[in-house]
Amino acid sequence: MKQPDVLFINGPNLNLLGKREPQIYGSGSYKDLCAFIDGFCGGAPHRIFQSNSEGDIIDEIQAAPGRADGIVINPAAYTHTSIAIADALRAVGIPYVEVHLTDPFSREPYRRISYVSDRALAVVTGLGFEGYRKAYGILTDSLAKGAARPADTAESSEPEDRND
Ligand code: DQA
Repeated sequence: MKQPDVLFINGPNLNLLGKREPQIYGSGSYKDLCAFIDGFCGGAPHRIFQSNSEGDIIDEIQAAPGRADGIVINPAAYTHTSIAIADALRAVGIPYVEVHLTDPFSREPYRRISYVSDRALAVVTGLGFEGYRKAYGILTDSLAKGAARPADTAESSEPEDRND
């Protein structure tokens, strides 16, 4: 089987890693995280995307069919608020693993809900950068075994772009 093409999506404020509450998120920068991901992917095809904007993340998910076989997503704070990102993941039906640097489910009460966990192949929390490697391993293993796509997958996803 060809090596799966994996899309890594990082949500808001993760671009500030290293400067942002290092006592919680660690001292490694976002650039360090990207280098870490590039390292464990080796030569395998992958793309890393970060945005602070919910709409841009949704656009990236909608553009993934035909480009990515699987997604590793850290939606950051949108984990706890965005039904729209959860809907986009359901709509494209691409297998995904949810990852968090910390364990949000044992932090403040407002972090204890995730709208994306229910359809995730797995949820990896509390391992820092290492969690991305674990998430990638779980995803690629289950893709190799033929990870099931959720039932409501839209096979045809021609964008109906009528904003003209
Ligand atoms: C986070 C946890 C979220 O609650 C928080 O809003 C983040 C990062 C994590 O990786 O631990 O921005 O997703």
